[in-house]
Amino acid sequence: MTDGKVKEELIRVAKEYRTRSYSPYSGYAVGAAVLFDDGSVVGGCNAENAAYSPGICAERNAIYKGVSEGHLRIRAIAIAGSPAGESISQHAYPCGVCRQVIREFADPETCDVIVVGSDGESMEHSFDELLPNSFGPDNLK
Ligand code: THU
Repeated sequence: MTDGKVKEELIRVAKEYRTRSYSPYSGYAVGAAVLFDDGSVVGGCNAENAAYSPGICAERNAIYKGVSEGHLRIRAIAIAGSPAGESISQHAYPCGVCRQVIREFADPETCDVIVVGSDGESMEHSFDELLPNSFGPDNLK
């Protein structure tokens, strides 16, 4: 479980980055906030593309921003997604590709995934619940 104050901060950052979403094609805005093991919090938004497939999800955008700055271990991630221009109206769980990318940098048993809902309705899961029996770096050692 992520500490209450830290969790609130991650939710705040995920919502803030959601406002920066570049999603003219889907009209679906997502923000993410990643807490790394050194306490750094890095935000990201989804960014789409006219050719569609080059677009990136908010989670991976935030994770790779952090990796680029030398942060390699994820403690928790908060995700806020809903149709653009509206307040949060649903729980947007990370897509399968993002789950695998989180897995690369997380301990499945201790990493928390916070899925932001409407006010006070956020859900918190252990990563292991979202991608059980996962394949990860240890498999290749
Ligand atoms: N999206 C995310 O940012 N994260 C997810 O986990 C699921 C989907 C984005 C991708 C695309 O820009 C839009 O939401 C609609 O799929």
